[in-house]
Amino acid sequence: MRRNGTREMGDQSLLAVKNSAELVPVRWRNGVLEAVDSTLLPARLAYVRMTNVGQVCAAIRSMKVRGAPLIGVVGAYGLVLAAGKIETADQVEASRRLRKSADALIETRPTGVNLRWAVERVFKASSRASSVKSLGVELLKEADSILREELEAAHRIGKFGAVLLEDGETVLTHCNAGALATAGYGTALAVVRAAVEQGKHISVIATETRPLLQGSRLTAFELAREKIPVKIICDSAAAQAMARGGVDKVVVGADRILRSGHVTNKIGTLPIALAAKFYGVPFYVAAPISTLDFETDPSQVIIEERDPKEVLYIGGKRFAPMNVEALNPAFDITPPELVTGIITDRGVIVQPLAENLSRQTRRKIATAEIPSSRDAPSPN
Ligand code: MRU
Repeated sequence: MRRNGTREMGDQSLLAVKNSAELVPVRWRNGVLEAVDSTLLPARLAYVRMTNVGQVCAAIRSMKVRGAPLIGVVGAYGLVLAAGKIETADQVEASRRLRKSADALIETRPTGVNLRWAVERVFKASSRASSVKSLGVELLKEADSILREELEAAHRIGKFGAVLLEDGETVLTHCNAGALATAGYGTALAVVRAAVEQGKHISVIATETRPLLQGSRLTAFELAREKIPVKIICDSAAAQAMARGGVDKVVVGADRILRSGHVTNKIGTLPIALAAKFYGVPFYVAAPISTLDFETDPSQVIIEERDPKEVLYIGGKRFAPMNVEALNPAFDITPPELVTGIITDRGVIVQPLAENLSRQTRRKIATAEIPSSRDAPSPN
């Protein structure tokens, strides 16, 4: 491992070697940040190469790179790239410029908490640098730790969640909370992957997830690639699928989980949670600890409003009269009473969510043992 700011992804490839089918969504190679360009999928699996913080901000805003945990990891490396471009020996001036880059990264997308968490953590590591020259190495160490931790967290989420799934069950999921949204392996899809790795036969229903179709483009791509049975439905068909008894569990990801238990996730999650409650289908949220936000109230969560063209056009073709506008909120908030449990990398948090989340700070959760299926919390 070379310590001059460039290096090969030793650790990441080790994991990939274990399960070659595993997608490697992000990698740092010789001072270049590479991430899978999600806008090209499913037609093309290719990496977008980023060599400066401006390119990282553009990749996040345009959703070439998307998914809260992955945006966090890429944001972390974005600050490493920014440090590499600082041409002053004055540490105070260097820190001022680094702060400017950190703020630019954090402002790209406001709803997911992981981006601010990761960028602030890497920025804090800059205080360890004894000179501007050593800034890049220090920040790279921190970004690498975040990547490693997030990948380990994904595998632990899988293990904690897999015990909640029974052989032969059908899981409905919304948006893409897979390898393409994380440091690898996924969150909601980690639960499915781990259950399949345990020999369980799991089928998945993926909602297409309008307007950008993360479900039909990305979730279906990941599962089909690994020969895990998957069917796509329109978002509006989720309730009927449950009414017909075709869904055993719902597992989705999250962009921000509040101390109260409110879960922010892709627009369309709330109606799925409402239908699940009505039809008695267990509704689980899978997310790493880095997605917990103990500072914000539900009323303070900023819901990203994206370009209305994403709703009005599909594949560059307009599907609405020219003089009609569209609204395009990208996320919604599911209240805690609709959530059966939160599957984290440190254990499954069950109801009452607010009470259990409040009692548990990040550190306390750290020691939870991986339960066996016997310990699986009762669905309702
Ligand atoms: O707009 P996106 O595609 O970034 O939204 C992604 C989601 O809502 C995911 O469900 C969430 O980030 C969790 S990803 C593990």
